[in-house]
Amino acid sequence: MVNNMDIKGDILCREDILKELRYKEYDPVVYDVTDSTNLVLKRWVKGGRIDNKLVVADRQTMGRGRLGRTFESPPVSGIYMSLLIPAGDDEGILLITSAAAVAVCRAIKEVCHIDTSIKWVNDIYLNDRKVCGILAEAVTAGEGEINVILGIGINVATESSIFSDTVRDVAGALYDTMPGNITRNSLIAAVVNNFMDIYGHITDREYLGDYRRMSMILGRDIRYLKEDAWHTGKAVDIDNDGGLVVKTKDDIITLNTGEISVRLEK
Ligand code: BTN
Repeated sequence: MVNNMDIKGDILCREDILKELRYKEYDPVVYDVTDSTNLVLKRWVKGGRIDNKLVVADRQTMGRGRLGRTFESPPVSGIYMSLLIPAGDDEGILLITSAAAVAVCRAIKEVCHIDTSIKWVNDIYLNDRKVCGILAEAVTAGEGEINVILGIGINVATESSIFSDTVRDVAGALYDTMPGNITRNSLIAAVVNNFMDIYGHITDREYLGDYRRMSMILGRDIRYLKEDAWHTGKAVDIDNDGGLVVKTKDDIITLNTGEISVRLEK
């Protein structure tokens, strides 16, 4: 149960986020409510506004998830944030999603002292419940340069009754009630700091060690949805590009990000 007394002090605040940010170019623009922080950044980039690189909202009315799904974004209890990642080379762009998953887990550990796991490619789980989703979208700006909008949604203290029937069996939160000594502002700053720490040398792939350690599917039997059909196999490795290596009945294949869903077999 979310206790409103507990979360009263946890108001999203630009100055408080900024205080803990080591990457000051990510000076945040904070909204009480918006349609989608990814869409806000997309509109800005298309309109040539690239000076603001971090958008945060207390609530989204059209939170977007992967594969055209909705990301439920109720007020007060979650973090909905999008970062504009400057154009890099193709190799770096390919790695952004897996790097973001590691950055979020590291940030949660640093601020909340909670160990979370990664379900390939970019869902963060705690106690078999999804507590965070990540959506990276490419956007073209200026001279055709590709920038990436990295959207991150974290259920910090979202009460399960707030979720719709569609997601209630899967969605969870880091806390039942927001602890008084932790703020969403600190967690937002920690996510940016951890992501940019990795992004500065992303192509050395050092973070992939943590990705493999934090994976909840390596060594497990899985089902994956590819081209409208479910297949089975065992998840055996994460390759150097963040792809999932799967041993099937008669082959070893690599799944790349994009339009693929993965489920653990019971
Ligand atoms: C997923 O789980 O499928 C990805 C969810 C990504 C949600 C975040 S919340 C902030 C940003 N704005 C959006 O509309 N989506 C992302």
